[in-house]
Amino acid sequence: MYSVQLGLLICILSGVQSFAVNRSTIEPDHNWKFQFPVKAQTAFVESTTGIPMVLNRFTISFWVDDVPSQYLAYFSTPGREIELYYDVRYNRLYFFVNGGYTYCAGCITTGNRKHILVTWSGTADANGVGSIWVNGLRVHTFSGISVGKSIPKGLRVKLGQLHNSDSSYPFRGEFMYFNLYLTYVKTAEEVAKLAKFGSTSDPEAVLPWGDFIGGGNGDVVLYPEYEIFTKSFTSIRCNANNMTVSLARAAFPHLIPSRASLKDPSCRVSWDDDFVNMTTALDDCGTSVAYNSSVATYTNYLVPDIVHPPADSSDSKGTAHAVINRGAVALDETRLYISCNYDLVPHRTIAAYAVASSRYSIEGSGIRDFKFEIKLYHDASYKQAYNDREYPLHADSTERIYAEGSLTSGGENRTEIRIEKCVMTPDADPNYSTQHELIIEGCAADDTVEYHDSPTFLAQRFSFQAFRFNERPTAVVYMHCYIDVCSADVEGTKCKIGWKACDEAEA
Ligand SMILES: *[C@@H]1O[C@H](CO)[C@@H](O)[C@H](O)[C@H]1NC(C)=O
Ligand SMILES: *[C@@H]1O[C@H](CO)[C@@H](O)[C@H](O)[C@H]1NC(C)=O
Ligand SMILES: *[C@@H]1O[C@H](CO)[C@@H](O)[C@H](O)[C@H]1NC(C)=O
Ligand SMILES: *[C@@H]1O[C@H](CO)[C@@H](O)[C@H](O)[C@H]1NC(C)=O
Ligand SMILES: *[C@@H]1O[C@H](CO)[C@@H](O)[C@H](O)[C@H]1NC(C)=O
Ligand SMILES: *[C@@H]1O[C@H](CO)[C@@H](O)[C@H](O)[C@H]1NC(C)=O
Repeated sequence: MYSVQLGLLICILSGVQSFAVNRSTIEPDHNWKFQFPVKAQTAFVESTTGIPMVLNRFTISFWVDDVPSQYLAYFSTPGREIELYYDVRYNRLYFFVNGGYTYCAGCITTGNRKHILVTWSGTADANGVGSIWVNGLRVHTFSGISVGKSIPKGLRVKLGQLHNSDSSYPFRGEFMYFNLYLTYVKTAEEVAKLAKFGSTSDPEAVLPWGDFIGGGNGDVVLYPEYEIFTKSFTSIRCNANNMTVSLARAAFPHLIPSRASLKDPSCRVSWDDDFVNMTTALDDCGTSVAYNSSVATYTNYLVPDIVHPPADSSDSKGTAHAVINRGAVALDETRLYISCNYDLVPHRTIAAYAVASSRYSIEGSGIRDFKFEIKLYHDASYKQAYNDREYPLHADSTERIYAEGSLTSGGENRTEIRIEKCVMTPDADPNYSTQHELIIEGCAADDTVEYHDSPTFLAQRFSFQAFRFNERPTAVVYMHCYIDVCSADVEGTKCKIGWKACDEAEA
């Protein structure tokens, strides 16, 4: 017998929908995968029902994550009516239909997750044509295979084993979402649709995934599958100031939208017959933000049921190390996490000024969610910035240059910045060999640098005295600044420490 990894499954497998309360949950019904942990002749999955009709054409769509091995049996029926396996010696994928067969060489790689679709039509006019698709690409076409023949009704399909197997063929890895259809597909659009809707027990299938769930044998283990399912039935849009998530209701039949919320329970979801949608501003609904050097990650989560929330078992009423555990399901196990990554632009170059005249013009500013800009101002009042078309400035070598680095979009209330580094070069390349450092690790590296107070945490101001490079005295001087972006909610960040710590260090 196969074993089940999560206690909650048992009620579904035995067909009893018995939640203690009528609870809203995002758990779907058919997001199971079979894991074949070892190669064994006794390990296979067999459909619990036979193919319900005679097939003169068919399409099989499934996902696998296979472990490389000399042979890999994907599926078969007792008389090779349908069979697919891979033979690594010749790097061939063999496809049998009613004893006739075809193969393609080098058309799949093993050791990764992939979608495979095979399709065949033996109807009189179709001449036994068919094709094999891997990850949405047609890798093989054939014709003349078992022309005019049909697959008889009643055959059970085995996954991960050949029916006439010698022991070297068993499959190792994971098997997901096998659906057999009475159709013949021709286009990449149809294949993409089956790859997605096959990520369930497809009601359009004549032998759907649901008919395999109870059919595990030997060491085969049933696990919930989240990755393919989530990709197929949810979508997320990361906008400049909000994130929006849509769930296809058909795939989440136990979600009662009226009981769902985001982390902040006052942020509810909207829904229609087809979708459950939620939107949150990046600084609202309990959304949290974390930064690393290149990416800002905003995270929130869907709480499926605010009427009957599962107890938070962080105080661990459960006995995790005993044989069974009657502790509450943790909140963590029922949430649907939502996150959006936004690239930071922590580096910006401007053609700042030239002591002598030049013909350089400034680059246009990038269109990014996070926009870091450096601007130069006329004087210490910081009232008037130079216009883009005034760059590069003409400066005297004794003149003081007033600069401001700021996050002009994408920064939220809970964001702070610090200018980490500013380097000047006589070239647009920030790594140009001749360079002069103004600011390093947030502190002045040039004697003329002075810091000025800034009205917001999203900007930092400083000034310095203009200079020119002896190597290229007439060149435009480029200014390259890098920033740190920090969460204002976190204590002790580089941004919180800021430049004021530099003065103390010097004093
Ligand atoms: C659970 O409650 C929802 C809404 O109150 C209702 O639509 C649904 O039919 C109920 N389901 C069951 C299994 O009782
Ligand atoms: C989310 O952002 C998009 C694009 O910026 C905007 O069109 C939309 O109105 C925003 N939605 C909400 C609910 O704020
Ligand atoms: C939910 O989002 C989908 C797009 O993903 C849209 O077609 C649908 O109209 C939205 N429904 C509601 C109720 O907002
Ligand atoms: C920053 O986080 C993103 C998203 O989690 C990740 O892809 C990236 O590798 C991280 N970068 C660094 C430098 O840690
Ligand atoms: C963020 O700032 C805006 C404008 O200053 C303010 O209206 C809003 O309430 C602030 N949001 C939070 C979460 O503090
Ligand atoms: C400049 O050098 C740094 C490391 O010294 C490197 O990470 C960066 O990619 C270089 N930038 C360019 C534009 O070559």
